[in-house]
Amino acid sequence: MDKSLSKKVMVITGATSGIGLAAATELAGRGALVIGVGRSEERCSQAREGILSQYPDARIEYLIADLSLQKQVRELAAAIKSRIEKEENKTIDVLINNAGTVANWYTVTSEGFELQFAVNHLAPFLLTHELMPAMSSSGRVIMTSSGSHYRTHMNWKDIQLRRHYNCLMMYKQCKLANVLFAAELNRRLKNKSNIRAYAVDPGLVNTDIGLKGTYGIVRFVWKIRSRKGIEPKEAAATMVFLASLPLSENPSDIYWKKCKPKEPSRYSMREDVSKRLWEVSEKMCGIKSEDFGL
Ligand SMILES: NC(=O)c1ccc[n+]([C@@H]2O[C@H](COP(=O)([O-])OP(=O)(O)OC[C@H]3O[C@@H](n4cnc5c(N)ncnc54)[C@H](OP(=O)(O)O)[C@@H]3O)[C@@H](O)[C@H]2O)c1
Repeated sequence: MDKSLSKKVMVITGATSGIGLAAATELAGRGALVIGVGRSEERCSQAREGILSQYPDARIEYLIADLSLQKQVRELAAAIKSRIEKEENKTIDVLINNAGTVANWYTVTSEGFELQFAVNHLAPFLLTHELMPAMSSSGRVIMTSSGSHYRTHMNWKDIQLRRHYNCLMMYKQCKLANVLFAAELNRRLKNKSNIRAYAVDPGLVNTDIGLKGTYGIVRFVWKIRSRKGIEPKEAAATMVFLASLPLSENPSDIYWKKCKPKEPSRYSMREDVSKRLWEVSEKMCGIKSEDFGL
């Protein structure tokens, strides 16, 4: 087994299937301690067994959290922090915010947020805050974004699309929010630390994401479309590449596809937009970033 990443600690959300599972397999296969996050005990143990069957010495562990609920995101962060205390460096080198969902209909979580916005944007926003004090001084935060961020904007008048919900519009807005979050995080970290954030565009990938919370036409379209996608292992290569670079080599480019930097949308680089989203998200999560050193 390749041990090039031994002593590195990496947290990957959505590590039970698709791109996140492929990344977890590859990074654990290179010797990192991978703390995967999943929402079901059964899927977590299946994923772990699958990785161990390929790499019997892999350091792969799973924690369970439903990321649609902020209460569970906070509990997850506490469990991760307590786990890394047992490691030599007691820090997280790489946090990959990868979990994602698609929902046909306007669905509200028990905490009152639209489901896609909660899982795809608010959860990584909150988890990153909670884990920031535990990140290594030149750690990395990697967001799984998407090329769909190019053709959209933030709907400030109705950010959760309560009045006119459209599944695809919400998904695109969330993937844009992932890039805006990475950009604003970097602005806030610039003069304070060497931690850097990146957004990864995996391309079209043959996973079941569009078959999970969906019905009818959305499900049908994804069934046909996803067949043209690349395999999760190929899609995970960019996040694996960024996660594996030596910590002294944090690249300055923010948006990555096929292991190379790419220009993100002009809108996603607008400071006024990312600041506004940040402030809205702070309120929705009930936090003040300055309490987390941000
Ligand atoms: N597939 C593509 O073409 C594509 C393109 C661009 C970007 N992406 C992005 O890539 C990321 C991974 O998606 P994927 O395509 O690999 O799909 P996937 O196989 O469905 O993976 C999504 C992961 O997120 C987890 N998840 C979903 N809702 C959750 C919740 N409430 N709490 C905790 N975990 C939850 C899933 O858990 P379960 O295993 O329990 O379902 C799974 O592990 C997403 O952010 C997606 O937006 C995908």
